[in-house]
This record gives sequence, structure tokens and C-alpha cells, in this order.
Amino acid sequence: MLSAQTFAAGPVRGNVAVPGDKSISHRALLAAASIAQPVHISNLNPGRDVRATLEALTALGTQIDRDGDAIVVRGGRLRESPAPLDCMNSGSTARMLLGALAGAGVRARFDGDASLRRRPMEPVAAQLRAFGAKIETQEGRMPVELHGTPEIQTRAFILLAPSAQVKSALLFAGLFSGRAVAMSGDRGSRDHTERLLQYLGANVTWDGRTVQYDGRPLTAKPIDVAGDFSAAAFFITAAAIAPGSELVVTGTGVNPTRTGLIDALRAMGANIELRNERSVSGEPVADVAVTYVPLQAATIGPDLALRAIDEIPLLAIAAGFATGETRISGVRELRTKESDRIAATQALLASAGIHTQAQNDGFSVMGGTPAASSTVVDTRDDHRIAMAAAVLARGAGPVSIDSDASIEVSFPNFLRALEGVHA
Ligand code: S3P
Repeated sequence: MLSAQTFAAGPVRGNVAVPGDKSISHRALLAAASIAQPVHISNLNPGRDVRATLEALTALGTQIDRDGDAIVVRGGRLRESPAPLDCMNSGSTARMLLGALAGAGVRARFDGDASLRRRPMEPVAAQLRAFGAKIETQEGRMPVELHGTPEIQTRAFILLAPSAQVKSALLFAGLFSGRAVAMSGDRGSRDHTERLLQYLGANVTWDGRTVQYDGRPLTAKPIDVAGDFSAAAFFITAAAIAPGSELVVTGTGVNPTRTGLIDALRAMGANIELRNERSVSGEPVADVAVTYVPLQAATIGPDLALRAIDEIPLLAIAAGFATGETRISGVRELRTKESDRIAATQALLASAGIHTQAQNDGFSVMGGTPAASSTVVDTRDDHRIAMAAAVLARGAGPVSIDSDASIEVSFPNFLRALEGVHA
């Protein structure tokens, strides 16, 4: 349901907890679906994207039951689903499940909503064709038809895209086929699949460039999903730009392949501290404390940007409040996320008078004193743009958006959580 929304200005103060990590939740469900013994998963992300993976796995014969706040997955074998698999808005579901089913040798038809139908499926399809899968796309996009994997061809891959989803699709192909897979050409994309496979007893090694997994089955163990850093990022950035803020985000994942935003904000002078560092099911977790201080511009190159790929709209907002010009490069793939996130971010920033300039593989932001206008921001049905608008408002004054419906995709409780830290 469309519901326009106006976000309030002002500092954020106190403590806030975030939902389970969306990326890890997809992987936990897929990994558990390969195991015949029951696997308990707690703190699963409650958003619509993860529901897409859960419902697709159910359609493929995996038994998934609620157990209080946790779920129990009884898997072992995936079997054909008579109906197409609806991946809704979720690129992670489409790409990683395609890998799992290619490995399992199961035929399937994949589809998604209008946004997912615009997004590229060819990079993952191409890698899985090399594995031996027969895959048909519609000019590189959804709907996608997987006609099975008659014979496994390649088990050593050069990754053609800097994508964690493509890398994970190949790892899940290895898991569900029981065959070893090796990859080179990774650029340091998120390593949640590697960590989860290792946590579940697999023989997997990786160094940020190469990955090897021997394809042997996993062992049932309870999985506790770390808090979602990409959800924590909205609060961290709000505290970094709104004078008077003092905030702690509790229990959030701080996997170094995800925390580029912290490093970038620190390079801008932000005061951010990690407390209570611990490990949860193979993932580093901490409480992140942020105290407002004025920011200065910084240069965000491709390696740092890759570790902050879902947080670039937030980094751009912070840059809008920093003295000087910030240049962000190496983020071309943002044009094919849930929306064209470079264009969406530029329009969001423009609504508060922040000047930006698109460049070849990124954009620059001229910092200053942003001030919200009466423009209603077009969120393009992109959850991260809708929530980023709420962050911009904290420092720039009230910002209105066309609809908050997309927030359901990753963080259904976002508005209430934000209200909870309203000073
Ligand atoms: C994700 C990987 C990233 C990220 C996406 C989730 C994942 O995309 O932008 O939101 O769960 O593996 P890439 O596959 O392009 O790295």
C-alpha cells in the first residue's frame, strides 16, 4: 500500500537494535536447505526479500516451521516446483537460488517484480552455464528458465563480476552438487557464504581474491544471524550528520567486507567506536557508538566503495554535510540495484540543495549546509532510498517521500526504531 511519509529533523540519541542481516539470512536458509537434520535459525531478517527465499525453498520441498522467535529448517533435497519461483524484489534470492538449483540439477522457472525484471541476470547465468547448467534468460533478465545441469563442465571459475551474489551462486552450486568449486578474480566482496559454510563444518578457504570449497556436505548447527550492518548504517549516518547526536547501535554485524561506511565516515572525521566485539555464528558483531562531530570531505575509491556498496546513498548524504568535495568512484553497478541508485541519490540530495555531479563510474558531492525543500522525493520503490531520505531529514529539515512501502523489503520496523531514538 502506498503511504506518503514526512521524516522529522533532529539528533538521534540512545540505543537502537537492528534486525538480522538480510544477506546472511538468505544464505542461512539456503545452507540449511541442504542439510537433512533440523537446523534452528534465530534472528532471521523479517523483511520481504528473505520471505521470498523462504517461500521459494518451501515450494522446492524444504520444510520450514516456526519455533517461537526462531525457525527450524528441515532440508536435504530440493525437488521441482510446479509453479514459477517468485523472487519478488530480491536479487539475492534469484541469483543464489539459481546457483543452488543448478547444483541440485533441478529444473525451475524464476520470476520477480517489475524492478527485479529490469535487473541483470546474465552475469550469474553466464557463470552457471560454464558450470554446466542450461539457462535461458529474457535478453539477460527475468523470467529465467533453468533446464537442469546435464553434466558438470567447469569447477574452476574466473569471476566475471565483482558480485558476492555470483560468487555465492557458484558456492551453492558446489554445495548442492557435492562437487568441489574454486574461484579466482574476487575483489573482496562480502564473504558471508564462505564464513557460514566454514561455521557449518565445510572445508572452505578464501583470501579476498580466491575461494576454494571441496563441496562436502554441511553439519547441522544452530545459526544465530548477526544484526544487519546495512540497517545499522541508517542510524550511524544519522548520528554522524545531526548535531547533538549520541547513539549506540547494539549487536550489529561488523564483518570488514561490509563496514566500508565506518571507514569512510572516519576518513571524514566522524567519531565512531566499536564496543563489545564478539563472534556470532562465525560473524564478527559489535555495538557501534557514534557521537556527532563536524565532517570534512574525503576520497572514496573502488575498494572502500565495494565494502560500502549498499551504503553509498548514505555516504553521499554524509558528504553533503562535509566541508569540501567528496568523490566516490568504482560504483557503476549501483545503476542496476533495486533502482538506479546513482540517479536516485542525486535526486534525493538535490531535494536538499546538495550539488552532485555524475562521473564515469561514480559521482562527486559538493558539501555545504543542506536544507530540505518542499520537493516530494521519488523513492523509485527502493527501500534503501526511502530510509536514506529519513537520514537526510535528520540534518536537513523535514523530507517527504512518495511512499514508505518499500521499507518492508529489509527493515519492516524501521519507522518505529527511528522514533525510538528521536531526541
Ligand atoms: C549482496 C551482495 C551485493 C549487495 C546486495 C546483497 C549479497 O550485491 O549489493 O544488496 O547478499 O550477496 P553484489 O552481488 O552485486 O555484490
